[in-house]
Amino acid sequence: AAAGPWVRTSRAQAPPVKIGLVLPYTGVYAVLGESITQAMELVFEREHWMVAGRKIEMIKEDDEMKPPVGIRKTEKLIDSDRVDILTGPVHSGILMGMRDKVHNSKTILIVSNAGADAISRGRCSKWIFRASFSNWQPCHPMGDWVAKHVAKEVFLTAPNYQAGKDMMNAFKEAFVPAGGKVVAEDYPKLGETDYAPYLTKIRQSGAKAVFAFFSGTDAVNFVKQYDQFGLKGSIKLTGAGFLTEPDVLPAQGKSALGIVTGHFYTPQLDNPTNKKFVADFKAKFKGKTPDGFACQGYDTAEAIVRALKAVNGNTQDKEKLVATLEKVEFDSPRGRFRFDPKTHNVIQPFIYIREVREVAGGLDNVPIDKVADVRDPGTGCTLPA
Ligand code: PHB
Repeated sequence: AAAGPWVRTSRAQAPPVKIGLVLPYTGVYAVLGESITQAMELVFEREHWMVAGRKIEMIKEDDEMKPPVGIRKTEKLIDSDRVDILTGPVHSGILMGMRDKVHNSKTILIVSNAGADAISRGRCSKWIFRASFSNWQPCHPMGDWVAKHVAKEVFLTAPNYQAGKDMMNAFKEAFVPAGGKVVAEDYPKLGETDYAPYLTKIRQSGAKAVFAFFSGTDAVNFVKQYDQFGLKGSIKLTGAGFLTEPDVLPAQGKSALGIVTGHFYTPQLDNPTNKKFVADFKAKFKGKTPDGFACQGYDTAEAIVRALKAVNGNTQDKEKLVATLEKVEFDSPRGRFRFDPKTHNVIQPFIYIREVREVAGGLDNVPIDKVADVRDPGTGCTLPA
């Protein structure tokens, strides 16, 4: 095989494996970027920042939650830094903006949050994997569950961008056939701080329940204002898991009690990998409870480490690295982790229906039901090179 300039001839000369991160470190989703990064660091630290004789180097870029910035940072990481593997982003719109650059440059991207459904469907790429979720995955099972166990008249609300639309559509896809009726839907801007006009509409709508997606500081503001507005006692609040993850629960406090959401993770999961993950994460990050975003970071880093070990550190044969990633399988804090070969999107071992309750040590999402083996319905594209 042709040896490129960076093919190692001895261990001492092995160049680092460069892993580029495009994540929000400022803005509404800054805490998500932080959790993902921290969990990746936890895994790489376990490996002493070495894989197959190469040093692991993380290059972090703040996308500031702005698609043009995210695209510029992606170009910088690919063209100037020449990263071996790219990860991120959090924001679905940024992922959609990055997609062609990643695809055309044949850069391996392991998505560590952004759920844009299209990336598992019409806009998929052979070079793109997703270790987090598609927006459809936590929401579709909730459509059926809410219709059967909560209410048939529901108000939908989410931020006005792709992830919000994807999630509400996924919910409807199951809710309506189960006999549910969408009373109304409304889309505040991402980063809204005053939900009063929307809460007024919810109160007047006649809905018996709300299904919502908000995340980061939006989730804190929405959940607190929902309670302050007096809706908590009368209209049941349900949503996508991001609404009440441990990144926002402490700030929401008792306003979050009783909220029911769908998600692939909760720190409450009773499996050995998760128990160790929660303990190690808390020990390293000043008692911070890992959230689903941290689980995504863990799985992204674990998939990278395992694939690189399997190819003995060779990042030049990208076809082989892709084929290796397709076969990676391991015990994740969320359960058995594997990518769906059809879409390169993670198969969720379970989507848990969770309720916010008081547990020892504060509030947490306690599983009350679950749906197994949740795969994005994408039938896969032809994954053109
Ligand atoms: C997304 O934009 O895809 C997104 C952002 C935050 C979340 C979930 C999905 O919590």
